Amino acid sequence: MNGNERNCKIAVYPGTFDPATYGHIDIITRASNIFEKIIVAVSDNPHKNPIFTIGERVEFLKKIIEDLNIDNTEIDSFTGLLINYLKNNNTRIIIRGLRVFTDFDYEMAIAAMNKKLAPDIETILLMTSEKYSFISSSLIKEVAELGGCIKGYAPDIIANALVEKLQNKK
Ligand code: COA
Repeated sequence: MNGNERNCKIAVYPGTFDPATYGHIDIITRASNIFEKIIVAVSDNPHKNPIFTIGERVEFLKKIIEDLNIDNTEIDSFTGLLINYLKNNNTRIIIRGLRVFTDFDYEMAIAAMNKKLAPDIETILLMTSEKYSFISSSLIKEVAELGGCIKGYAPDIIANALVEKLQNKK
């Protein structure tokens, strides 16, 4: 099977998701309405020094899609190169969210590198809904760390776990 015969009905939405925000959930929900199946692939990404373990990040996302009743979406984790993960899952579509123009350079670089490594792979960027365009995982961690309320930016399960995690760190 050559690359073009690989499945275009399944898309992988990769990220660190430390933690997932309503912005990520917006992308998952919309992608799940476009593709037959979405795999949300949580990267271990040690360079980002995540606050939540990979198991915690996976469990949060599982609970969220269960609560939202999104039945064509799976949550998984991966290590190593994303393109290899796609090959192993017999798909060639990567979904990423694009917020403001400052995301563009970063997304362009990742997409271009993935394309160099595996030319058959396509990256599809979904525009983040305007109301979530200013949310980022680091920002909500910073606000929580400084005692601010983040309930409007991430589901309660994540907001509560973040507060607890930060309290335990003190
Ligand atoms: N809504 C809200 N926030 C969003 C968002 C959206 N729709 N889209 C992106 N973001 C934010 C996140 O909150 C996060 O914020 P932060 O930087 O403050 O933490 C940031 O954008 C990006 O995080 P995330 O979406 O979790 O993904 P990532 O950029 O950390 O993921 C991988 C990068 C995992 C896709 C990439 O590192 C990878 O593929 N790694 C595997 C190894 C590999 O193949 N490397 C070569 C790739 S070229």
